Amino acid sequence: MDDLSDSEILSLSMEHNFWTWSAQTKVNPIPIKRAKGVYFWDVNNKRYLDFNSMVMCANIGHGDERVIQAIVQQAQELPFAGPQMATRPRALLGKMLSEITPPGLTKFLYTLGGADANENAVKLARSFTGRHKILARYRSYHGATYGAIALTGDPRRVAWEPTVMPGVVHFLDPYQYRSTFHRSNPAASETEFAQDYLNHLEEIIQYEGPQTIAAVLLETVTGTNGVIIPPQGYLQGVRAICDKYGILMIADEVMSGFGRTGKWFAVEHWQVIPDIMTMAKGLTSAYAPLGAVAMKPEIAGAFNEVIYQGGLTYTAHPISLAAAIANIRVMQEDHLIEHANEMGPVLHRMLTELGEQHPCIGEVRSIGLFGIIELVRNRKTKEPLTPWNSSSPEMTMLRKELLEKGLFIYTHWHTLLIIPPLIITQEQLMEGFAILDAALSITDKIAQGK
Ligand SMILES: Cc1ncc(COP(=O)(O)O)c(C=O)c1O
Repeated sequence: MDDLSDSEILSLSMEHNFWTWSAQTKVNPIPIKRAKGVYFWDVNNKRYLDFNSMVMCANIGHGDERVIQAIVQQAQELPFAGPQMATRPRALLGKMLSEITPPGLTKFLYTLGGADANENAVKLARSFTGRHKILARYRSYHGATYGAIALTGDPRRVAWEPTVMPGVVHFLDPYQYRSTFHRSNPAASETEFAQDYLNHLEEIIQYEGPQTIAAVLLETVTGTNGVIIPPQGYLQGVRAICDKYGILMIADEVMSGFGRTGKWFAVEHWQVIPDIMTMAKGLTSAYAPLGAVAMKPEIAGAFNEVIYQGGLTYTAHPISLAAAIANIRVMQEDHLIEHANEMGPVLHRMLTELGEQHPCIGEVRSIGLFGIIELVRNRKTKEPLTPWNSSSPEMTMLRKELLEKGLFIYTHWHTLLIIPPLIITQEQLMEGFAILDAALSITDKIAQGK
């Protein structure tokens, strides 16, 4: 491997790899060489500012020696132990997680990522309640495996229908900017708005039969499908509805967890405690693959005498657990949750100012270091720059321009997501926003047909 030259990385990668989420002839990977802090470099030494934490996961930033050393140490001490073994990192991580997750979530099942965390959450909920249906939202992404893609509401599910996991019913998200229920009543108060969406959920529960529903599963703050921040009262209302009908509430905090919103977990903003909470990404800041399902002891207790039918060869892999422990310590030592909380208003101000300057911006939203820009052709009609579930030449051009200028950012249809590592400084945010500002000036002109 050592004799592979930098210039061969791209060509050889292209020759022998099958790329996910891609038409194989259309992929255009960046041959990446190293990464540090909020930046990474390609083989030509071009520097990119990472506004997407790679895949919304490098929460503590790249190349932190403390996590790297913890992985090395674990690899030297005990690189692997089977699922039925008790290990030092397993003992430590469970305790640590129970201290940072919302009170009452005290048991943890480990997976390899977010999708299998959600699948195990579904198994637990179905077994615990003896019911089979899961309610999830249309604007959601919960993973690509057959169960998780069934939970996913967005069009990535449709590609695999009708053979995905049965028993999922979708409902609408409280998405204020494009709210179906409020086109003729855009001035509804936040309370009314939240209530309308709670009524919608409860009506669906009635139609489906509450006695058939095991769980309502939702992203606390919707990620890829729009950084949709729940209005005050909504999550509390979902919790109350779940309690009323004996339905479990599952929060998917795969993207919104580990400081992303300025709290350890986004549910804390609304003081809601789910029965089950899934996590991945920021759990190790991607230094090693890991997901987890946090649950209340009564859910775990249902399997005191009954076997839990599920498992993975690599559940609780010691190297991943060691990475998670070191990652959480870094977050604590460097006060990264507090930092994200402080930078939240800074990001929000920058987004708002950008929105005021560019006619192609319809709306900006953010919570903590979790932000989005919605691009439109017309602010009044809110016509998106790219139709639902597709691309447009304008977006392709914008993406290309940003990358050329060294800003790595995730675009989804007509939106730009701003999800940088939590260590980002105000100056680094400004650096990215200067690139955005210049590129969006071009988009403004094109969007207006000039
Ligand atoms: C909210 C959410 N849930 C689940 C997943 C799936 O996680 P993974 O890709 O680790 O399976 C993702 C991934 O982007 C996610 O954003």
